[in-house]
Amino acid sequence: MRTLIKNGTIVTDRNEFIGEVLIEDEKIIAIGQNLNTSADKIIDAKDKLVMPGGVDQHTHFSALCNVGDRDTAGYETTDSAIVGGTTTIIDFAPQDPDTGLLDSIDYRINVRAKNKACVDFSLHAMVTYLMDSIFDEIDEFPERGISNIKIFMAYNGSPLHVDDGSYYRILEKAKKVGATVFVHAENGEILDFLRNECVKKGQLTPKYHYVSRPPFTEAEGVRRAAYLAGKVGTPLYIAHVTCREALDEIVEAKGKGININGETCTHYLTTTKEALENPDFNEAAKYVCSPALRDQEDIDALWEALNSGLLTGISSDHCGIDVAELKQAGREDFTQIPNGSPGAGDRFSMIWTYGVETGKISRQKFVELIATGPAKINGIFPQKGTLEVGSDADIVIFDPAWTGEVHLADNPNGVDYNLYEGRKQIGKVETVLLRGRIAVENGKFVGEYGMGHFIPAKMYAGCYTGI
Ligand code: URP
Ligand code: ZN
Repeated sequence: MRTLIKNGTIVTDRNEFIGEVLIEDEKIIAIGQNLNTSADKIIDAKDKLVMPGGVDQHTHFSALCNVGDRDTAGYETTDSAIVGGTTTIIDFAPQDPDTGLLDSIDYRINVRAKNKACVDFSLHAMVTYLMDSIFDEIDEFPERGISNIKIFMAYNGSPLHVDDGSYYRILEKAKKVGATVFVHAENGEILDFLRNECVKKGQLTPKYHYVSRPPFTEAEGVRRAAYLAGKVGTPLYIAHVTCREALDEIVEAKGKGININGETCTHYLTTTKEALENPDFNEAAKYVCSPALRDQEDIDALWEALNSGLLTGISSDHCGIDVAELKQAGREDFTQIPNGSPGAGDRFSMIWTYGVETGKISRQKFVELIATGPAKINGIFPQKGTLEVGSDADIVIFDPAWTGEVHLADNPNGVDYNLYEGRKQIGKVETVLLRGRIAVENGKFVGEYGMGHFIPAKMYAGCYTGI
């Protein structure tokens, strides 16, 4: 089956031009101008932008949430991600209770995602139950297509927390097989102290989530993570960087020759911490995620860091945690609010609206941050994240002239809220192809649940080779 997309403006991380993309079955087989070819199906993209499908390297679908024992929204809700322009996620694979890294990964591929995923997916191993066997499991990453592993420095007292000694052992093992280590960098012990102080003083509303997670606790986490990664010589990727202090630590570490990269997320670029001050608990609790939201000055610094190449990706950190039930756990005490907010379906359009349309980043930078960079970092480039001959035909056709507002009803995400509800939106994902198949038409999912496949990643990915 041959599909030709014509008359559109093709936008990649390097250039843009009016041209054509020819697809045969799952792959792009030609790209250029005046291809003079026939096809079984022709898509006219006049006045539209033709871009690589988004790659969201930080999502938590069907992940046991860090308070309570219920899963976050599952892979059947990835229809919202693809409607929002993301065709590949690199999802986190937390260990199931008393289960190793690789068995948890297998279960995720064969059960959690099976017949449900609407996007292609790779997986990050993620340590959530430290046990001695996990270190040797890293040796098997290359044959299992797992190119990185995530650890949490925060969340002391919960099974998510990884102590410095175990982090050091993971760095050594990861280096041996060419894996990258992703770190949630916050000083868990200081956070514990600050949170307990708030509780003692009766400061229990969601606002104290940000009060008890000041930027220096993130910056110290970055500094320590970088120092240890530098000692071992393992490439380090800092998840969800939020503030100036943390950026300064990345600059300093880079200056010392440490191989460190990082991302930020949509909400840290668009929303300030005042959202947590809403007197309506339900409204404020939506924004409880970690690290916490910051100030406008931090948002400005993050955009600069993205433009300069200091940060190399924008993720959603999507967590499908509902307000009606799960977030209620913290109604009387903010420390009990499960952390995380949904956003996989909004990343593409929010970054376009608040990044490209405001002149903060170019269209090429947009593609780099939303697709190409994350594909490289996670060892799935050039299969994913780009429009090249031989790449998977994961393609977004985007209407840049559309203007409107974000509403949950327009792209339901399996959760009971959209973090960006009512915000202005410029530009809209109209059509999406996943490996050559039309999955979204006129902004609605028309694909099949289960059409998304596991994509094995290659070792020695972008953080080793350069992005
Ligand atoms: O608040 C967040 N980000 N929750 C998800 C887990 C994590 O820290 O990434
Ligand atoms: Zn996360």
